[in-house]
This record gives sequence, structure tokens and C-alpha cells, in this order.
Amino acid sequence: MNVIDAISARYSVRAYDSTPVPKSVLDKMLLSARLAPSAMNYQPWHFIIVTDNDKRVKMSKARYAGFLKEAPVVIVGCGDTKRAPKWHVVDVTIALQNMVMTATAEGLGTCWIGSFDEKLIRDMLKIPERWAIVALLAVGYPRKKFDLAGLIARSKSRKDMSSIVSHNEFGGAK
Ligand SMILES: Cc1cc2nc3c(=O)[nH]c(=O)nc-3n(C[C@H](O)[C@H](O)[C@H](O)COP(=O)(O)O)c2cc1C
Repeated sequence: MNVIDAISARYSVRAYDSTPVPKSVLDKMLLSARLAPSAMNYQPWHFIIVTDNDKRVKMSKARYAGFLKEAPVVIVGCGDTKRAPKWHVVDVTIALQNMVMTATAEGLGTCWIGSFDEKLIRDMLKIPERWAIVALLAVGYPRKKFDLAGLIARSKSRKDMSSIVSHNEFGGAK
């Protein structure tokens, strides 16, 4: 799958089947995160792979995150606030998105999760204060049965190009 095909194929998957994520795919995802660019090459990231059922159920209690209990893997992206106070969020985000694209190319579904209880996750996963919890990713095979939310997501509602791009100055026409 080439890059634009993978970008077009990706959508937020909110219904998963219970098939485990193969270790070979998870390894590729982590490799693609490790190869991400970062400011000053500080690589201020740490990824916690959560497969434990009880932990995923606890994370799924957050609003808009109910499907975390069925996603076989949840990846918690953490950023080093001391090493990269300005850029850790950007750096971790790029690395997570590399994982998303690799997962897509491998036929897996993902969903970014910004809806989480930071204290619950910090305590449960023993994340030191120095590390910010940037975002979570749900990962797994999309559930085959009818998924209305997935259907809507695949329709790709996006702003018009003309409203998001300008030339030579903000609002400038071509
Ligand atoms: C930083 C971030 C946080 C998000 N948080 C959630 C979330 O908590 N729950 C959820 O269901 N979707 C979440 N999403 C998914 C967005 O709703 C989704 O990307 C957007 O609606 C566009 O749909 P698409 O991903 O299917 O193209 C998040 C996306 C991003 C980038």
C-alpha cells in the first residue's frame, strides 16, 4: 500500500474484534515510531503497550472511549516534559501517527483517543510525573459486523481545500 492509499484508507475504528494483534505487526509499528523525526533528535517518547483486560476496561470508562475494552491493544504515548518541554507533544504525536499508518498498511484499525482520565492512567500504569500522557491509540482488527460509526467515518467529512490553504499570506489567493 503506498502512502496516499494508506492515508485514504485510514479511518477511526471504534469497533474491534477479539483477534490479537500479531507481534510482528506490533514490532513494525514500534519500529516506525522509533524512526520518527523529533526536535533535536531528542526522541522524548515512551510507549506503553496495554493488553491487560482489566486495565483496558478501566480506560474504557472515559467518555468517547468505551471501545477500548474490546480493542486488543491500547498504546499509551508518553512525552518527556523535562527533556523536551516545548516539543514533546509534537514529537510523540508524529511517532504515534507513524504507528497509525503502519497499522493501516498492515490491515489493522486504529483510533486516536484524547478522552482519558489522566490520573487514573498515571496511577494504574505507574507513569512518573515527568512524563506527560499525550494520547492513547486503540489498535486491532476492525469488527466485521455492520458498524455505522465506521461507515460515517469512512465518508471522510473534511473542510474544503480552499478554506484550509492560502498562498503567500494568510487568506491569500493563488
Ligand atoms: C488527538 C485526537 C484525539 C481524539 N480523541 C478521540 C476520542 O477520545 N474518542 C474517539 O472516539 N475518537 C477520537 N478521535 C478521533 C476523531 O474523532 C477522528 O479522527 C475525526 O472525527 C476524523 O475521523 P477519521 O479519523 O475517521 O477520519 C481523536 C482524534 C485525534 C487526532
